[in-house]
Amino acid sequence: MADNTLRIKPVVNTDRPALGRFIASRWGATVIVHGTVFRPAELSGLVAVRDGRLAGLLTYDVSGDSLEIVSLDAVSPNGGVGSALITAIADEARKRQVHRLHVTTTNDNLDALRFYQRREFRLFAVRPGEVDESRRLKPQIPETGCYDIPIRDEIELVRDLAFG
Ligand SMILES: CC(C)(COP(=O)(O)OP(=O)(O)OC[C@H]1O[C@@H](n2cnc3c(N)ncnc32)[C@H](O)[C@@H]1OP(=O)(O)O)[C@@H](O)C(=O)NCCC(=O)NCCS
Repeated sequence: MADNTLRIKPVVNTDRPALGRFIASRWGATVIVHGTVFRPAELSGLVAVRDGRLAGLLTYDVSGDSLEIVSLDAVSPNGGVGSALITAIADEARKRQVHRLHVTTTNDNLDALRFYQRREFRLFAVRPGEVDESRRLKPQIPETGCYDIPIRDEIELVRDLAFG
């Protein structure tokens, strides 16, 4: 019988080949933010599964008191998967005594900006021209993104986590 419950679980090594293919189809092998090259397929992550199928993936990197969301993807947007992954990563961060979630998106990604701000993230930094710099390292980054907006700048958002 079909099980439509959305389940969130940590990425384990046996997941990695399939998740690597999914990430490659979304982002390529690397994600470059604030000049740092990440390989999401090798990072810690949370996977969302519904009815035995991949529904979404969040990868992250923890450094000191901050947890950086490196990639977040819902296979089918607007079905609650992104929200569930954000709730789960906030819980995971609290367990690790991490106080802040960071995420970087690009100037064209108005849907992500809306999504994060609706989920307690606040604007933290704007880095004009940072994507142009990343494109030197990764020429596959498209020139134009959502809504035909030229992709040029990074926008970083932060969510302070409440404890207790
Ligand atoms: C940004 C992204 C991760 C959001 O994930 P998502 O699964 O679409 O997010 P959700 O479905 O939880 O929330 C999106 C909206 O759908 C609505 N929604 C959630 N469940 C719903 C349901 N069952 N029926 C109808 N609408 C629903 C939510 O209310 C939400 O609207 P709100 O912001 O006004 O509250 C997703 O759109 C995505 O994969 N984008 C491409 C990759 C990307 O840009 N990633 C972010 C940069 S790192």
